[in-house]
Order: sequence, then structure tokens, then C-alpha cells
Amino acid sequence: MTTHHVISESVVQRLKCPQRLLIDGAWVHSSNGGSGEVRNPSDGKILTSYSVATRDDTNAAVQAARSSFDNAIWTKLTPAARGKILWKVADLMDENAEELAELEMLDAGKPFADARHGEVPFAADCFRYYAGWCTKIEGKTTELSTVPDARFHIYSRREPVGVAALIVPWNGPLVMASWKIAPALAAGCSCVVKPATQTPLSTLRLGELMAEAGVPPGVINILTGAGSEIGQQLAEHPDVDKISFTGSTSVGKSIIDAAKGNLKKVTLELGGKSPVIIFDDADLDAAVLGAAQAIFSNAGQVCVAGSRLYIQEDIYNRVIDGLSKFASELKVGSALNYETQMGPLISKGHLDSVCNFIESAKREGASTVTGGNKILDGGGYFLQPTVFADVNHDMHIVQEEVFGPVLVTMPFRSNEDISLIANDSQYGLAASIWTKDIGKAHKTAAAIRAGIVWINCHGIPDMSVPFGGYKQSGWGRENGLESLLQYMELKSVVAKL
Ligand code: TAP
Repeated sequence: MTTHHVISESVVQRLKCPQRLLIDGAWVHSSNGGSGEVRNPSDGKILTSYSVATRDDTNAAVQAARSSFDNAIWTKLTPAARGKILWKVADLMDENAEELAELEMLDAGKPFADARHGEVPFAADCFRYYAGWCTKIEGKTTELSTVPDARFHIYSRREPVGVAALIVPWNGPLVMASWKIAPALAAGCSCVVKPATQTPLSTLRLGELMAEAGVPPGVINILTGAGSEIGQQLAEHPDVDKISFTGSTSVGKSIIDAAKGNLKKVTLELGGKSPVIIFDDADLDAAVLGAAQAIFSNAGQVCVAGSRLYIQEDIYNRVIDGLSKFASELKVGSALNYETQMGPLISKGHLDSVCNFIESAKREGASTVTGGNKILDGGGYFLQPTVFADVNHDMHIVQEEVFGPVLVTMPFRSNEDISLIANDSQYGLAASIWTKDIGKAHKTAAAIRAGIVWINCHGIPDMSVPFGGYKQSGWGRENGLESLLQYMELKSVVAKL
């Protein structure tokens, strides 16, 4: 029986060619021939090369998007026709799911089954969800509230915001790109997409599928290359009307500065340090499993990772024992190995950054319950699932986003207000609460300052559930109607009769 995924011939052939940019419907190389390397985090080897877009390429992509928008290339189609095209994108993603999953496995290090049965169908369903919204964009009528003796007809219109630049991180390349592209297109925008340097492959393939589905030339453009150059240029560009960014809080702040020239609309989905709270009346088996999955899924490289675990003191030791057992039994290894449950970190640089957090935690007095070391296996960027105890709230490991499989655990007393402790963070992206007491669950959910709170589960995503951050976890929401509206302007029309 094969234990490793064998790469399909179509992907082997695809990787032999340098990857190109998508500008105005044409697949082109960088105008100065510049290129970079895409690596496989499971073995550190080079997979293929991507084109590094120049300033001229970026300008050309923005102009293509601008022209397609200003000439209504996309919006002149009926909403039903646009909805059909988005649905067709989803069908093509399903038809090419094996290939998309392989690409996601190769450059993002996602275990094949997770990509094939999780990420790819979820991304396809995002296009179906927003396909449905195309025909349901509405305004409303209003009565004047203060002017006497006059008759008016007043209504509002929702209109696309214009050219949207979509900047995507590496931790969920296909899903995060889809979460931005699908609502932007449903709203009627034209787009320039910039995937992360480490993980361009699935987004580039998605670009081909969008063209095949009938998204017209210029409506979707894809640029690869460094965010500090291209992302910055897009954020500053006077012909870009909207920027939607997912990534680190520090880059999010630099985008706010860069976007202010033409006062772009900005949506930011940023970092987190999400608390998981286990009360002593919780279903312990479910809570331990949930807490472990909350931090070790995707090797902790998840914005909503449950990276701070608060355990009511009388069950602390039992939860720690359960977590240690889970962590020590987790199979860490190459994303191509069918037995792997936790794949590599995205890059050597990121592995080193996570290890620096681990070392600083030890220096500050934290004790390692389990893990804490790199795993040397075939050149991949692997780290043991790591659990810390004896931490306090001032430590870097408690306050900063590590973005790796590293959990800090803290007991809390029954007479303490756990929501106050959980809220002691610059972030406010997500939280989960584990208890059988429904009143306590909802009271705690209301008191937590975060954009999404799960009760007796963690990290359940859905296209219909808005998602985003309080505090320094961001601006705006992705998913649901809220995301669509963030790619739209609201116009009021006031007619005197
Ligand atoms: P970021 O630097 O924030 O990268 C995210 C995206 O922004 C990438 O496409 C990146 O391009 C681009 N970018 C970088 N600098 C930019 C700029 N000045 N203007 C516009 N776009 C820019 O994240 P990272 O370096 O990959 O990871 C660093 C830390 O960020 C992680 O350790 C983690 O804590 C956090 N992070 C959070 C998330 C989520 S979902 N909240 C996702 C990824 C990372 P390049 O790929 O070329 O750099």
C-alpha cells in the first residue's frame, strides 16, 4: 500500500514551467524577467519559480482592472449571468480538486487529505455562496423624516466600490483568496490579487479556472512577488479603490498608512491570540480534543488558533495530561505522507521565528510540558507540538501571536472573572468556551471582546458566519452579507416629486 501521495502528471508538468502573472487576460512573465523560488516546506526543496511583478507590471494590472471596471465589462452582465459564472468557478474547482489539493499540499504544506476534503471544497462553496448573492443585492426606500409638506421618492442603491486589491497570506492560500475574490466579484468589483510569495500556486490555477468559467479579461489580475513592493504599491495606488488584506497586524498598520493617499476603503483581517476557556463542568474529553485541535490544526498557523488555554484549577492537571498525550501521539511529518496529522511550518524563517518564541518563553521562566524542539526529517520545517505551563500574562509567549503549534496553559480560580483575564490582550479575533452550563456559556460569550466566540467547539468556519476582529485583530468582516457590503458603496437618491 502506498503511504505517500504521488503527484499527478499534470502538476509535475505545471511545475516544470515558470509561473506567470495574469494581467488583462494574458499570462505573462515579469517585464524585467525577474523570478523567485517556490519551496516545498515538507522537504525544503525548490518546486518551481514565480514571476516577480515589476512596478510597470503592477501598474498594468491595476489599469486592466480599472479599465474593465470603468467600461462595465463585468457589471454589464446581468446579476444572474455573473452568478452563473461564479457557480461555474466552483464547479471547475470541484472538477480539478485533486490538482488544487496537490498544489496546496506542495507549497503550503497542507496534508493531502486536509486540502482535498477540507480546503478545496470549502473554497469552492465560497464561490457558490456568493454566486447566490449576485441576484440579491438590494437598496431600500425611505421617507423624509423632518421636511414638512413636501413629497419625495427616496431610495438607496448598493454599487461596487471599484478596483479591489486583495492581499492574501500563506496559511490558507486558496480559502483566503476565495474569501476575498468571490464577494468582490459578486459585488461587481474588478480585482488585483496578490498571493503570498511562499504560496502562489493554487491562486494561479484558480485564475485559469476563473477565465475558463467566463470571468472576462481584466476583471481578475494576479500578481506575484514581494508584498513589501507589490503589496505596498497596490496599497498606495491612486487607481485602487479598496484594499482587503489578511496577514500580520504590523503589515496591516502599514497598509493603513499607505492607503490614506486616496482614502481607500480598507478591510483588515489580522492576528490573534485567541483564548480557550475550559470550565470544570465541561465534557472533558471533548474539551481536551477541542483545545488540542484549536492549536495544532495547520501546525498552529491559523489566525483563530486557540493559543491561550485557561483551565479551571480543579481540572487543570487532567486537561494537561490529556493535551500531553494528544501532542505526543500526533504524527508530524511531510504533507505528502498519508499518515501525517500535522505538517511543516511554512518556511525555515518562520520555523526559526517560532523557535525564538519558545526560547524566550523558557528564558522568562515558562516550563515545557511537552515538545519545544525542531524535528529533523528530510529537510522539512517541522516542530514538535508544544505546550507550556508556569506562564504569566506579561510574557511574550502569552501576549504575542506565535503562529505555530505552541500553546500556553494557565489555571484560573473559580472566583476569578475569566473574561477579564481572557480580554487582557491587544487582540480580539476569536475565543472558545467549554462548559455544560448554558447560562455561563452565553454570559461569558457576551463578555469576551472578540469577533467570534465558539461554545463547546472551536474554529468552525462557515460562509454565512461573519468573521473578523475586535481591537488589533482588524477592521471589517469576511464572509456573510457583511463581506459583500464591504466591497460596495451605498448611494442615497433623493427625488422631489
Ligand atoms: P505578512 O507579512 O503580513 O504577509 C501577508 C501578506 O501581505 C503576504 O501576501 C505578503 O506578501 C503581503 N505583504 C507583506 N508586506 C506587505 C506590505 N508592506 N504591503 C502590502 N502587503 C504586504 O505575514 P508573514 O510575514 O507572511 O507572517 C508574519 C506573521 O504574520 C506570522 O508569524 C503571523 O503571526 C502573522 N500572520 C497572520 C496571518 C493571519 S491569517 N492573521 C496570516 C499570515 C501571517 P509576501 O508574501 O511577499 O511577504
